[in-house]
Amino acid sequence: MAALLKVRNLKTQFRTEGGLVKAVDGISYHVDEQEIIGLVGESGCGKSVSQLSTLQLIPNPPGEVVDGEVIFEGKDLLKFGANGEKMRSVRGGKISMIFQEPMTSLNPVLTVGEQLVEMLELHLKMPRQAAEKRAVELLEMVGIPDASARIDNYPHQFSGGMRQRIMIAMAISCNPKLVIADEPTTAVDVTTQAQLLELMKDMVRRFNVSLIIVTHNLGVVARYAQRIYVMYAGRIIESGTSKDIFIDSYHPYTVGLLKSVPRLDEQRGKKLVPISGLPPNLVNMPDICAFRPRCPYATQCPGEGYPELRQISDQHFVACHIDFQGKSREFYAK
Ligand SMILES: Nc1ncnc2c1ncn2[C@@H]1O[C@H](COP(=O)(O)OP(=O)(O)OP(=O)(O)O)[C@@H](O)[C@H]1O
Ligand SMILES: [Mg+2]
Repeated sequence: MAALLKVRNLKTQFRTEGGLVKAVDGISYHVDEQEIIGLVGESGCGKSVSQLSTLQLIPNPPGEVVDGEVIFEGKDLLKFGANGEKMRSVRGGKISMIFQEPMTSLNPVLTVGEQLVEMLELHLKMPRQAAEKRAVELLEMVGIPDASARIDNYPHQFSGGMRQRIMIAMAISCNPKLVIADEPTTAVDVTTQAQLLELMKDMVRRFNVSLIIVTHNLGVVARYAQRIYVMYAGRIIESGTSKDIFIDSYHPYTVGLLKSVPRLDEQRGKKLVPISGLPPNLVNMPDICAFRPRCPYATQCPGEGYPELRQISDQHFVACHIDFQGKSREFYAK
């Protein structure tokens, strides 16, 4: 299948008083048409910055995309200029983004209907009446009961889960090709979380869109993503199909992440093991494996310098110096 989005060697840095923060340090990934991918990693590893970079939403200063290509439908978005007409029509048009906290992206002084209608008028040039009708349909589609009445409500009159549903309606309202959902379910309970993910999966099928799910919880993407990219300290350290990541996970960090979240396919009561230590400070990072200080295999590690991604099977890539021969999970199995 053809790649809809192809990101190559993306680098984004922030100039701070403490020094240079390499928030995203040369990541490459792709999303095929109608594919769901997961982008996973602990807080601060560069997930949001990477996504904001592709949409050119990084505040400059202090931030800057310093290298890379973002090929979308055959064109490099980074050449469009951040605030030009072309980029504005991509954002909210062909690519839409759902943020973690809907209250920050919904306008509190406009009704939900007004906001949806405005989007449809602006991006799809729909006449007012058609837009109003479509707005109700969209809310019905994402499961808002009594949508024709609730359309006149303000965002604060909805629960957190419902606001996320409204965000999903907005995200798909302009017939995008790609939806980026950045921690879309962190602020809701687990039942609502599962419902929202099912809803998004359903939307992907119905509207032929591709979806990037950004999350710190590897468990969340297990059932939904076809492929997964694991990030650590601004880089991708492992990627592959869901099976590669969940069954044949290789990098000690990925294995650690898996052991630290509850899984449906493991017996109940199994102890969760957090990864010891903290993610590194990204200011003035040395060019070594960033996971080394936390790696349970550090003493066995033969490598120096940063380990480049290497292919270990068809779609499975890993950035680790050690040749585990399938044994990277033994440490955590104890
Ligand atoms: N405006 C900014 N100025 C300076 N540093 C920034 C800025 N925005 C982000 N960063 C830094 O970039 C790094 C990556 O941040 P990012 O928001 O992408 O993390 P994340 O993986 O999305 O984490 P989370 O799971 O908490 O959302 C962090 O070290 C953060 O401090
Ligand atoms: Mg984030």
